[in-house]
Amino acid sequence: MNKPKPLVAGNWKMNGLMDSAAELFRLDALVKEGQDAGCEILICPPFTQIVRFAGKMQGGKIMIGAQDCHVSEKGAHTGDISAEIIKDAGASHVIVGHSERRADHNEDNRLIREKTKAAWRAGLVAIVCVGETASEREAGETAAVVEAQLAGSIPQGAAASETIIAYEPVWAIGSGVTPTADDVEMIHGVIRAHLGGRFGDEGGGMRILYGGSVKSTNAAALMGIDNVDGALVGGASLKAEDFNGIIDAYR
Ligand code: 13P
Repeated sequence: MNKPKPLVAGNWKMNGLMDSAAELFRLDALVKEGQDAGCEILICPPFTQIVRFAGKMQGGKIMIGAQDCHVSEKGAHTGDISAEIIKDAGASHVIVGHSERRADHNEDNRLIREKTKAAWRAGLVAIVCVGETASEREAGETAAVVEAQLAGSIPQGAAASETIIAYEPVWAIGSGVTPTADDVEMIHGVIRAHLGGRFGDEGGGMRILYGGSVKSTNAAALMGIDNVDGALVGGASLKAEDFNGIIDAYR
């Protein structure tokens, strides 16, 4: 299978008031002015901005995604948003199983697997997040934890066109600390082997993003590692210049 086209994705988390559209427009302008990036570009704002952002970016290079979805298509689930609603609003992707949701909302692998199926059902690409905590890492359990998360969170029959994995070590998120290149290569190799073992060629073509303190200053080095097919970026996706500097890794 050919090497998949990389993806640089921004997760705005719980940031993005109405005036944040200006940042999106600035990013759009930088992407249009800059050399053609050899990657796909995605921004995942809060739910409230999706319909507006997707409308503004229609036909452009920046895709819009969501940060979570419910497992059901519709019904009595006050405060929740279904994958179908997200799709209807104009999004193309949804992040599922982010460590902040695993921690804040007690989301487990089984639930994340159902959310991934919901994303597929609605015609969205699922970005399934995995990653170990600091204590799991210190205990030497990184590979075992990540493999268990992959086994539990990715449904059978996953296809490369609708499934992306994001490896985000919890301790690297928002901390300014990243794993060594050797560590990233090792764990991305473990993930690739798991995907290949379960899904054959499809697993070989699935993108595996790295996330956790990606900045313009470390992006080129991280993106150059074997089996790193892009980035999932938090803090540095909130400013157009910073995020564009990460996209530079693929220019
Ligand atoms: P930071 O880039 O702020 O470390 O966040 C990473 C992340 O959690 C993206 O989903």
